Amino acid sequence: MILETIVTTRNRDGTVNIAPMGPYCDDPELATFELRPFCTSTTWQNLKRSRQGILHITDNVELFARAATGGVVEPTCLPGLMVNVERLADFCRCYEFQVTWLQEARDRATVHCRTLHAERQRDFIGFHRARHAVIEACILATRVDFLPPQEIRRQFAELERLVIKTGGPAERAAFQVLLDFLPQAVDNDSDTTERPPA
Ligand SMILES: Cc1cc2nc3c(=O)[nH]c(=O)nc-3n(C[C@H](O)[C@H](O)[C@H](O)COP(=O)(O)O)c2cc1C
Repeated sequence: MILETIVTTRNRDGTVNIAPMGPYCDDPELATFELRPFCTSTTWQNLKRSRQGILHITDNVELFARAATGGVVEPTCLPGLMVNVERLADFCRCYEFQVTWLQEARDRATVHCRTLHAERQRDFIGFHRARHAVIEACILATRVDFLPPQEIRRQFAELERLVIKTGGPAERAAFQVLLDFLPQAVDNDSDTTERPPA
């Protein structure tokens, strides 16, 4: 099973790096899990160097949207208890981890992680179509370099419908972060997709 999470790691210059990541999880307690970062990612460089990080499970989709588009999330960070990395303030559960094994491959690395400290702050609200739609849009936003712009806009239009239909102000704000990011990230000239009526 792949969960959608946000991972914080320490950058070489001491600042915190915040990135959405999808760990492979067999253990529901997340005592261990496996990260598969692209070898081009900052997260991979940081994990290789410092061998620690914090994995966050959160239903705050605006955090995902900001992290996916390089937006500012940093001011909400608090220090971790067992690792030298900041954690996000708004999480349902967080897992401070150390790397037990890692391997670089051509495309993605494999990073085995062991939880040192787990914390629960609040319940995860439950299945939520608008939030899932925002997560899907976040994934598209991190793939603008290699997906066709028209395809991205087509999928965004479908996802926006779900956000408008089933979301509240938080989901709309998160989706807006992604909509604001889209024009600078994709080629406007090839935009021939019409938005569906709200
Ligand atoms: C929900 C979600 C899950 C993601 N999972 C992964 C993943 O497992 N591995 C990965 O390399 N990138 C993943 N990405 C894309 C990264 O977040 C993206 O490439 C980001 O720019 C990496 O940031 P970094 O370079 O600061 O580490 C995911 C994106 C989203 C929105």
